[in-house]
Amino acid sequence: MSFELTLQFLGNSTIGLFGAGHLGKAIAEGLLKAGLPRQNLAICHRGSKETDRELADLGLSDLVESGEKVVRQSRILFYLVRPQNSQAVRDYKLREDSLFISFLAGIPLNNLPVHLPDAQRVRVMTSAPDTLRNHNGIAALYPQGNLLMREILDSLGLRIVPLGHESDIHAFTALGPCLPIVLTYWEYAGFNTDDHELLETAKKFGISNYSGILQWAHSIRPRQLSPEEINRYLFQAATPGGVTDAILSAMRAGMCLSAALQRGIERSQQLATA
Ligand SMILES: NC(=O)c1ccc[n+]([C@@H]2O[C@H](COP(=O)([O-])OP(=O)(O)OC[C@H]3O[C@@H](n4cnc5c(N)ncnc54)[C@H](OP(=O)(O)O)[C@@H]3O)[C@@H](O)[C@H]2O)c1
Repeated sequence: MSFELTLQFLGNSTIGLFGAGHLGKAIAEGLLKAGLPRQNLAICHRGSKETDRELADLGLSDLVESGEKVVRQSRILFYLVRPQNSQAVRDYKLREDSLFISFLAGIPLNNLPVHLPDAQRVRVMTSAPDTLRNHNGIAALYPQGNLLMREILDSLGLRIVPLGHESDIHAFTALGPCLPIVLTYWEYAGFNTDDHELLETAKKFGISNYSGILQWAHSIRPRQLSPEEINRYLFQAATPGGVTDAILSAMRAGMCLSAALQRGIERSQQLATA
């Protein structure tokens, strides 16, 4: 694993993380652990004290800069705010030579206030922060052919799942990255998982080769967690107002697994039009 292409592209600029919540922090740790030189990473967030404290605990405070500085010095910008804050980058001027990578659930690239050519705008949908820390995650990449992002996702230990269209990310998000969390909650609540039901749901939403994703979710999801550990696990993975959150709420309201997952897909589609 290497950052050869990435470092060539960056020169003495940085990968900027715009947002340092659950996902941003896990990505920062993952990039450094994979060997990205520290001088090639910069982080900004909205300024919450809690995030400052968490970044300090992780030994990342020295990488924190103002949003303006991070955007100016970054040739690769990872957008890591909540979907509800999708317009946050509007106030900043991106470099014309930069590559913009959105990690936001739901929101299509065209709905973000970023005026770069198509070839410089990329979307990634990754599994939860714990999978980044454990190097056993999956991610969708759109467009798939972006070699720089392939190299970076490889370095983070993320297996890339091919998708044909950007709109396939709606179903992929609920039925892929969210699935380990959803299954963990489902079985914790005392229900058994019916793989056949999940395979049928994936078929209905046009996700091919789903058995590999299903196997992945079963194999990486944590087991035998205490109630506190379950809460911590759900907290890091469920962005409030996001897709996992919608699925968990639907399950808590008594929906069956496939109907709750469908709720998640609908939530992603709803975010796209908000
Ligand atoms: N968590 C997951 O499992 C997961 C998985 C796949 C995709 N995603 C996507 O990743 C994104 C982030 O999720 P998350 O769970 O990490 O959310 P989060 O924990 O709420 O973090 C959001 C971050 O955005 C920052 N932010 C908000 N407005 C900003 C602004 N104007 N300028 C700079 N920073 C700003 C916040 O700053 P403060 O800390 O200062 O408030 C915070 O650090 C979401 O769009 C989500 O759909 C998440």
